[in-house]
Amino acid sequence: MIGIVSRLFAREPVLSDARPGDARALAALHGASFHRGWSDGEFERLLFDRNIVAHRAVAGRSLIGFIVSRVVLEEAEILSIAVASPRRGSGLARQLLDINLRRLAGLGARSVFLEVDESNVPALRLYRRAGFREVGRRKAYYPAGHGSAALILRRDLV
Ligand SMILES: CC(C)(COP(=O)(O)OP(=O)(O)OC[C@H]1O[C@@H](n2cnc3c(N)ncnc32)[C@H](O)[C@@H]1OP(=O)(O)O)[C@@H](O)C(=O)NCCC(=O)NCCS
Repeated sequence: MIGIVSRLFAREPVLSDARPGDARALAALHGASFHRGWSDGEFERLLFDRNIVAHRAVAGRSLIGFIVSRVVLEEAEILSIAVASPRRGSGLARQLLDINLRRLAGLGARSVFLEVDESNVPALRLYRRAGFREVGRRKAYYPAGHGSAALILRRDLV
């Protein structure tokens, strides 16, 4: 009982696996964080997919962050990560990335790729500090970012 009460009122984020039942909350946070949102159904399909590795951060009853990646044999890709705007800048994305990368490594992934808008400073800082390095670039990829390029980043897992 005390456990339930403290979880309901906890302000500290609790990180755990995301499940299909989280689809709606993930879609809402994704929609608030990106120019093109993904629907509840898209998230539900992803969260049922056996190759998807998804984690969530919850504070009290609110979803305040998530990360979704896909792993196929030795290669993985981070598909999306977002933190609710009032909770940004306190290291939550770094925690989500760490837990997700550890799981990917445990599943046998040896390298992880992702794509990021070159103008997305917080995301670039997050990924660079986590050891991702640029391996490619697609020019004028993001119309919403005034034609900024997409950077392809890679990190090897050892
Ligand atoms: C990118 C995002 C997930 C980072 O979440 P976060 O919880 O704020 O990140 P963290 O607190 O773990 O900080 C990660 C790094 O970003 C930096 N950072 C955070 N907010 C920043 C800001 N507004 N401006 C510049 N740097 C910022 C932090 O200082 C940290 O870098 P450091 O370790 O070199 O100091 C969050 O900004 C977000 O949800 N953005 C919208 C969705 C998005 O763009 N996702 C990434 C798509 S590839």
